[in-house]
This record gives sequence, C-alpha cells and structure tokens, in this order.
Amino acid sequence: MTHHINHTPAVDACGVSFRVEAATLLDRVDVRADRGQFVGLIGPNGAGKSTLLRAISNVLSYQDGAVSLHGADLKSLPARKVAEILALVPQIAPYTQGFTTFELVLMGRYPHLGRFQAEGRADDQIARDAMRLTETEAFSNRTIETLSGGERQRVFLARAVAQQPQVLLLDEPTSNLDVLHQLKILTLVRRLVDEGLTAIAAIHDLNLAARFCDQLVLLAGGRVVTDGPPREVLTPETIEAAFGVKSAIYREPVTGALAVSLIGPADQSPAEVEVFGGTTPALTVDVRAGRSSEATSAVC
Ligand SMILES: Nc1ncnc2c1ncn2[C@@H]1O[C@H](COP(=O)(O)OP(=O)(O)OP(=O)(O)O)[C@@H](O)[C@H]1O
Ligand SMILES: [Mg+2]
Repeated sequence: MTHHINHTPAVDACGVSFRVEAATLLDRVDVRADRGQFVGLIGPNGAGKSTLLRAISNVLSYQDGAVSLHGADLKSLPARKVAEILALVPQIAPYTQGFTTFELVLMGRYPHLGRFQAEGRADDQIARDAMRLTETEAFSNRTIETLSGGERQRVFLARAVAQQPQVLLLDEPTSNLDVLHQLKILTLVRRLVDEGLTAIAAIHDLNLAARFCDQLVLLAGGRVVTDGPPREVLTPETIEAAFGVKSAIYREPVTGALAVSLIGPADQSPAEVEVFGGTTPALTVDVRAGRSSEATSAVC
C-alpha cells in the first residue's frame, strides 16, 4: 500500500523514555513512520499517546532515546526548522481569543516567513485553500470563541494544513466531529498521505483507525504493546488486554473495512450476548471467544 520513495523514515523514535517525578509516562517507546504513511496511535486513556506526540514534536524533552526527523536528530534541530517540517494539532486546542478563523489559519504560515516578513498573497491563498479543504471558510471572519467544538477542531486542522508540513501529528483529530466530518477529515488526511505526507494520529475510534491507517501502534502504560498493520494489531486478545473490552473483529461487508464490534466490558459481560433484538434475527456472540458466529466466517 505504501511506496517508499526514500528509505530514511520520516519519523523514527527509538527507545524514547519520559519520566516525571511521580511516574514514567513513556517507557522505551519505539515508533517509526515512513514517508507517505499514516500511523495510528491507539490505547486507553493515560496510555501516553499525547505524551508521545509531544515528544516527537519536541514540545517536551524526553530523557532517554532519540527521535529522528527525516534523518536528523530532533534535539539538534532549531525550533523553526522543526516547524517547517512538522505540525502538531494538540488534543486540547490552545487558548486563543480575539482572532478570526482566517487569522488563526494564516498563523500556520509563520514558520515559512522570513524574519519580520508579513504574510503575502500566496500565504493568504494557502490559508484559504486549507479552509476550503476543512470546510471552515464559512467562518472566516468569525472569532474562534464563537465556533462550535467541531468547527473549532477543523479550524486548528486547517492551520496545520496551511503550515504545509511534511509530517503531520494529530491528537484525536475527530474527537468533536460529527460522523460526516469524521469521514471527510480522515479522508483528507489519507489523501494528503497518499500525496506524500507522513501522518501520525492518536485515534480512539478503533473502526476509523482500522479503516484509514496503514500501521497501528497500541500503547498502554507508556509502552508499545504491539504494532503493525491494523489486521495484526486489532485482535480480540489485544483489545481485551489493552482496553478490558470483549470484541469481535470482522470484515465490514459494506465498506470492506476491518471492523471492530465492541461487545462489552470484559469484567461485566455475560457469556452470551444477544446483539440484535426485536425483529432482527438475533446474532449470538460467544463472548469468551470474542467473535460472533456470523462474523467468524468473515474473519480476515
Ligand atoms: N506531570 C505529570 N505527573 C504525573 N502524571 C502525569 C503528568 N503528566 C501526565 N501524566 C500522566 O501521564 C499519562 C499519559 O498521559 P497522556 O496525555 O499521554 O495520555 P493519552 O494516551 O493521550 O490519554 P487520552 O486518551 O486520555 O488522551 C496519564 O496518565 C497522565 O495522567
Ligand atoms: Mg491524549
């Protein structure tokens, strides 16, 4: 699926550890993203996904290990150079007040401007294109605080797109989006990736992660539990071990995507669950096996 134009990985985090006084938030984490690859970070709350994204973008200073960005050691690169290459859309939007949507998106151009240089016509156009792609142009002249949660989230993505990074780090990019915009935004990221961008995104929705990512990295307790293509990482066993949830994994018949049905918490669910009630014929799921009778025939 992925064509390796260049064998130097875009991002190569090797043995990264980050400790605070009370805890080890990242414990010898290895994560690699090749150019033109979409890597999804999955894992429970507190697993270390945001911490890892912040380490890779040099927002926090990890104590051990190394991150290389296009072959250069991250810590040796000036902040400005990092911003030329990489954009991070944080999980929690930074506090901004008084800026219009357009002004905020235009800020994505800063790393590409000379010192004391103002944005020019070309920058305006790039900002407008980014707003069109994220369907935020309708709010151009409105201040950020007047936007809804999902609208705001798309604006911060627009700012990162306007930055024209080679590496895009997204922390829960679809957390506030309606189903249509979840699909549109991840389709946009996928298209940019197919055009050569490298993306690493923390994604809670396992179905979206399976459908859009080339590789998944499952984190728990600051460690990489497993990584690889979605069909290898997403198994009832790994999902139960990481999240404590019984699941069935199957090939979704309509979209053809790998799909995850979340049956219930492992410590609460009865041995057998009636998935469809009412007039729909019941599909009985053997929770212990973690897969349904119908799904089994379609298991990939
Ligand atoms: N200064 C700190 N002291 C102690 N623990 C911290 C500190 N900063 C972060 N943590 C903990 O580190 C863990 C990892 O946090 P992180 O934000 O990376 O998780 P996450 O995988 O992104 O979770 P979520 O899915 O909730 O966004 C959390 O349990 C968090 O409470
Ligand atoms: Mg997080």
